[in-house]
Amino acid sequence: MCGIVGYTGNKSAIDILLNGLTKLEYRGYDSSGVAVEINGQVEMYKAEGKLQNLKDVIEPVKTEVVRSTIGIGHIRWATHGAPTTINAHPHSCNCGRLVIVHNGIIENFKELKEELEAQGCVFKSQTDTETVAHLIAREFSKVKNLTEAVRIAARRIEGAYALCVIHQDVKDTIVATKRNAPLLVGIGENEYYVASDVPAIIDYTKKTVYLDDNQIVTLTPNSIKLINEYSVELPLKIETLPWEPVSLSKMGYKHYMLKEIHEQPGIIRNLLSGKIVGLDNPLNLSEVKIDKETLKHLNRVQIVACGTSLHAAMIGKYILEDFCGIAVDVEPSSEYIYRKTVTDENTLVIGVSQSGETADTITAIKQSKKKGSHILIVTNRPDSTMAREADSLISVCAGIEVSVAATKSYMAQLISFYMLAIYMAEIKNSTDKDLLIKLKKELIKLPEKTEEILSQENTVKLCARKYANAKNFVYIARGINNATALEGALKLKEISYINATGYPAGELKHGPIAMLDETLPVLSIMMKGKVYDKILSNSEEAKARNARMIALTNSTDEKLKDLFDDIIRVPDTDEYLSPILAIIPLQLLAYYIAEFLGKDVDQPRNLAKSVTVE
Ligand code: F6R
Repeated sequence: MCGIVGYTGNKSAIDILLNGLTKLEYRGYDSSGVAVEINGQVEMYKAEGKLQNLKDVIEPVKTEVVRSTIGIGHIRWATHGAPTTINAHPHSCNCGRLVIVHNGIIENFKELKEELEAQGCVFKSQTDTETVAHLIAREFSKVKNLTEAVRIAARRIEGAYALCVIHQDVKDTIVATKRNAPLLVGIGENEYYVASDVPAIIDYTKKTVYLDDNQIVTLTPNSIKLINEYSVELPLKIETLPWEPVSLSKMGYKHYMLKEIHEQPGIIRNLLSGKIVGLDNPLNLSEVKIDKETLKHLNRVQIVACGTSLHAAMIGKYILEDFCGIAVDVEPSSEYIYRKTVTDENTLVIGVSQSGETADTITAIKQSKKKGSHILIVTNRPDSTMAREADSLISVCAGIEVSVAATKSYMAQLISFYMLAIYMAEIKNSTDKDLLIKLKKELIKLPEKTEEILSQENTVKLCARKYANAKNFVYIARGINNATALEGALKLKEISYINATGYPAGELKHGPIAMLDETLPVLSIMMKGKVYDKILSNSEEAKARNARMIALTNSTDEKLKDLFDDIIRVPDTDEYLSPILAIIPLQLLAYYIAEFLGKDVDQPRNLAKSVTVE
């Protein structure tokens, strides 16, 4: 939530800042701003709404602005204060010489604000961030050293922050610090970058230093100095980013979401490679660092996650319980952290997160770590805060996901759960060996089967056109695909704003069936297996209430045509693996409905990709 970027070097800063903000747009897009130094003066430009509005504000003064070689920028997802120009970052102290950009929430801003107002500071915005600008300026007026001022001020701040600060009197210098929010420095030739996330700097450099909490970095074009909160200088841990800039482009697709949906077959292939080596051999998952004896005697598994990752976790629960006979709880992180959970050293706690930066999941993980649980993190970002908390780390390797609606990372999380469940079942010897062999055989065939689904996307597109004007949508399923119904509904509502709900089909008659009429599409996820006949009769019940019926199925039964208005077919697979195939048409359906309705597919309203506030 909120993205920050900074540059000091020998090139013009403005294009680097604007390009960085464009790449960070997934973190928020309700307002934006930059501050640059022109002729020894700090100048700020801000705009409400999309980043293009900021570009339009800068355009008339571009010839002046391009001369600056230092600057900081921000893209906002509002927490404190409406998304207006005045609340857009950067924020400055009263004299306007010190400016800051901030990602996070300052929890004690009210107390600090009262204290600063009593000392004569005048606040212009309703943000928590402005407090920090005044606080650092007050310290700077005493110590006359920007790094020291930031260090002292940071000790007064409670909450989460990643901050970048510049001061008109401290030429070419950016000071940055963080606590519980991500921040990294990019190293170039006589130039440094600072950003909330990799996409903002990957076009320029792959050499990075990730800041740890409470560290303070001071950057000039020719120097970098890292200190801790006690002013002790620290060595730099320089890492090389494993991504290529091209992987962050749309590669000819109209939207990132469509490109990311199409990347899924390759992702499955990559994830499985080297893991299934001979069907009779145990699956190789060396990422799991729990010793095998401890693993055999675990009491329980708890999985914490949010949103789409939570849906992947539900499927994880289903297969872990079925294959390993171990009790698994799945809970939204935001609930888990506010109750007394039964968690101990015999509990395996799994945190699932695309970004690895979701604040609630980080808190849940930290709480269970304190209770002695082994922490397994399943994330798409091995460079994230959550990954750094892991005892075991499964990096799902889907590549950076840019579209706000998660698709390929969900697929990668699912595959990771299948690998984990098979790995644990083999160690515990808790399930029929033939079933595990059959599943491994089937897993290997999935990349081809997902390709087959994508090659028939036109069928889904036609269906999307037909149902795009529905005001409500119901997805029903049973068994392992209940989570698929929830995920399909979430995809549709988040990008098209159609009210979509997923229900276990057996629950329909306990209330939701009252909503059904000829205006309401009901999409039945009907995968062959032990609950196929049950969902078939639930679909009959819906049809009898005149609902518009759509089937998503791997059955070739011709009689389905009597019951359903439209049928989307997927290739056959084992029922356990069917969520992997079933989700792809649902992602496409949501995409094409939103696209048909002219919605902003990659940046749906009110959302941000990385939810770094609780
Ligand atoms: C939905 C979506 C969100 C995220 C949720 C958790 O498409 O992307 O629901 O799944 O905000 O984010 P991560 O997985 O980064 O913890």
